[in-house]
Amino acid sequence: MKVSATSASPVTCSAEAIVVAVRSNKQLTPAAQEVDVALGGVIQGLLESGEFSAAHATTVVLYPTAGVAAKCVLVVGIEDGSPEQAARISREAAGAATKRLASKQRNQVAFFVPFPAPASGVCGAMVGCTGQDLYRAEKKLFPITELLFAGLTDQQLVEGQTLGEAVNWTRELVNAPPSDLYPRSFVELVQATLAGLPIQSEVWDAPRLEAEKCHAILAVGRGSVREPQLLMLHYRGAAPTAPVLALVGKGVTFDSGGLSLKPSEGMLDMKCDMAGAATVVGAIQAIARLQLPVNVSAYCGLAENMVSGDSYKLGDVIRTRAGVTVEVHNTDAEGRLVLADTLDVACGQGVHHLIDLATLTGACMVALGRQVSGVFTNQQAWCDRVLQSATSAGDWAWQMPMHSLYNELISSPVADIKNVGDGRWGGAITAAKFLERFVGDTPWVHVDIAGPSFSDRSSNWLDGGASGCFVPTLIELARRYGGL
Ligand code: BES
Ligand code: MN
Ligand code: ZN
Repeated sequence: MKVSATSASPVTCSAEAIVVAVRSNKQLTPAAQEVDVALGGVIQGLLESGEFSAAHATTVVLYPTAGVAAKCVLVVGIEDGSPEQAARISREAAGAATKRLASKQRNQVAFFVPFPAPASGVCGAMVGCTGQDLYRAEKKLFPITELLFAGLTDQQLVEGQTLGEAVNWTRELVNAPPSDLYPRSFVELVQATLAGLPIQSEVWDAPRLEAEKCHAILAVGRGSVREPQLLMLHYRGAAPTAPVLALVGKGVTFDSGGLSLKPSEGMLDMKCDMAGAATVVGAIQAIARLQLPVNVSAYCGLAENMVSGDSYKLGDVIRTRAGVTVEVHNTDAEGRLVLADTLDVACGQGVHHLIDLATLTGACMVALGRQVSGVFTNQQAWCDRVLQSATSAGDWAWQMPMHSLYNELISSPVADIKNVGDGRWGGAITAAKFLERFVGDTPWVHVDIAGPSFSDRSSNWLDGGASGCFVPTLIELARRYGGL
């Protein structure tokens, strides 16, 4: 998708379609005002008659026969929120506009919208017209060939395009069917896509995982014919002595539940269980392309959780790489096992700050709903930095408790810990308490993205399927980490 600047006026712009905005208090932005005058007051008329409410991220399409050069005018409502909501508001309004216009093939769409966060507006426009129907003969959404923006600097355009491409790449990986995307093909696809960027990659295959004592990753992957992998990506934009930010992702390319088999309804969407891994690779791509002055490493623990004669079993005791023994009470609590070894590898490489992203628990969705990620930490100062980045990047997140009293819920009679809590209560927290055992003293934040990373329904600004949530937050976190 091409992204360019335009210096045309909305009235004379020759793009196929132009986009102008009305604030949700029904006040026209300057470009909407200009177009309204050129069209003899049509936009005001729509507002006054109540045909168009200008509610945030709602749209109306006009096909004027005279007055403006463009064949099509799209009017979008945009919320007048506080500055800390600028990224979300910009992304949603832009996405609503392109999603509406993507119902047919269009070559050029020009935005005359005063986005409160311009780069997020560009990102949202790219994401809104990109759908999950790559495999359908009859497309529902046609990506727009060229997006034009008035009033944006080159830097804002580049940043927005980089962000948009990263979010769309993450979405594409998550949306890919599980028989196409498995641990080895994930590694190959990521390496091919990142080729040419200043990123070093290292891969541990099954024999190497064995040699490295990653018995938890191996246990989860054992029931599958697709062997597990650990993918490590290193970007060094700062001095070798500067601290390293580690991004860790759960990459369960399909989660059948294993012997604790999921029912069919719960299994259908489990191709999304590698969203954490897809999020960290999308983020490091953007970080490298933007040449942020920061050292970042991404760690993807990749395995397929399947059923076979050799699957790992309930009652098994796994000796994790960190030496902590884990009694398996449920093979469907596999994500924390994969992350245990992956976090330990990251810590062993001496990283300074950790953030992990994982579609870890249904319980987190029970607690916070479908759209908000759960955030857990062992160090409040680091957590505050993550939460501030999430707010300014426009990702919904909410911190959950980590009191020490939860520790006893994961105690096991036969091993150091077990891989589930005590019944279903506090399931998102007991999962986080499990992970905490594998990060030592390293400042660490765990983000449970089970709800927001994937949706079975569309919104005005986003097609159903993968959302790419938290890619913007990780990029913002890296930007601040490098002192920008
Ligand atoms: N991948 C699932 C969590 C999940 C559920 C992600 C729904 C996205 C949507 C995870 O591996 C899982 O199965 N968790 C169990 C844990 C339980 C067995 C302790 C769960 O949440 O039920
Ligand atoms: Mn599971
Ligand atoms: Zn899972």
